[in-house]
Amino acid sequence: KIPVWLDCDPGHDDACAILLAAYHPPINLLGVSTVHGNAPLSKCTVNALRVLEAIGKPEIPVLPGASKPYCRTVHTAPDIHGASGLAGTDLLPEPSRYALTHCNAILEIKEALFAQPKGKAWLVATGPLTNIALLFAVFPSLADHIAGLSIMGGAIGSDFTHISMGQPYLDISGTAHPRSGNRTPFAEFNIWADPESARSVLQNPVLRPKTTLIPLDVTHQAYATPKIQDMLLNGINGPTRLRRMFNELLMFFAHTYAEVFGLADGPPLHDPLAVAAILSCHSDPNFEIEFDDSGGERWDVDVILEGEQVGRTVITRSENGQGVRIPRTLDLDKFWRTLEDCMAAADEV
Ligand code: BDR
Ligand code: CA
Repeated sequence: KIPVWLDCDPGHDDACAILLAAYHPPINLLGVSTVHGNAPLSKCTVNALRVLEAIGKPEIPVLPGASKPYCRTVHTAPDIHGASGLAGTDLLPEPSRYALTHCNAILEIKEALFAQPKGKAWLVATGPLTNIALLFAVFPSLADHIAGLSIMGGAIGSDFTHISMGQPYLDISGTAHPRSGNRTPFAEFNIWADPESARSVLQNPVLRPKTTLIPLDVTHQAYATPKIQDMLLNGINGPTRLRRMFNELLMFFAHTYAEVFGLADGPPLHDPLAVAAILSCHSDPNFEIEFDDSGGERWDVDVILEGEQVGRTVITRSENGQGVRIPRTLDLDKFWRTLEDCMAAADEV
């Protein structure tokens, strides 16, 4: 199995990432750390505990990490995820335990990953990159030890995948810019929320060739349409309590995406794609979810730190092939089927 540590800010789509990481057979979920993001850290931490409780995995360790970005103030996303970070359902159970606050998240992640053989373990990040940047700043040799880092974050631009993110944005001088971000016309939320941390991670020379970035350009191919929501609600075993809980979460997420972005097709399920992306590097044809990176394209990624475009990810082709992998598409059918399989497996517990 692939050992995985998940760093997240649950979050509706983070909840789906936890389900996938906890139940997809080739993955061994070592632990979950939380970070400020969709909600304040304390709420994201309780949400992680509640999701793990709901899916029958209360034994997975949960460690709260950074409560603020490296050098900026915290900004949460109540317009998208509600004030709690995971609004829309009364079916989330209360956690039967507390998070491990007597341990330091960064130390625990380091211990858990170094305990795995070299080149085996993956780190998946589905929130702002504060914990990840701290981890590799304090323990730089960990970059050489892990197999890979998979990040949901960034927004490349419409010419990358030809996915439209809405009408072009007109700046103050009347110049039109293609709209690529979701937090600003230029920036995706996870990167925008702590751009300094994102930059240090995406420009770490040892990490770069092992990093997969899943930007909005890819996640906006995975809309949880009414058809998908219906499949996940009814599944093979009917609308169980767990399925109803996820359905209510997805309905809330769909509602806010419709309100804020005018998206009628259903919300993009960003975060589980960063979990799915690690599978394409460990081919077991039964469980693999294929991501297409056009035969191994690699990119140098810069993050804008100042001005109107703060948080924007700017990519250029990597000259030496040591850049970040940014897939353009994936096998969506397989992805949704895998999520359904995980739901069914969690239902059995
Ligand atoms: C990212 O921001 C959050 O709202 C989601 O959980 C996801 O990680 C998408 O921009
Ligand atoms: Ca997230």
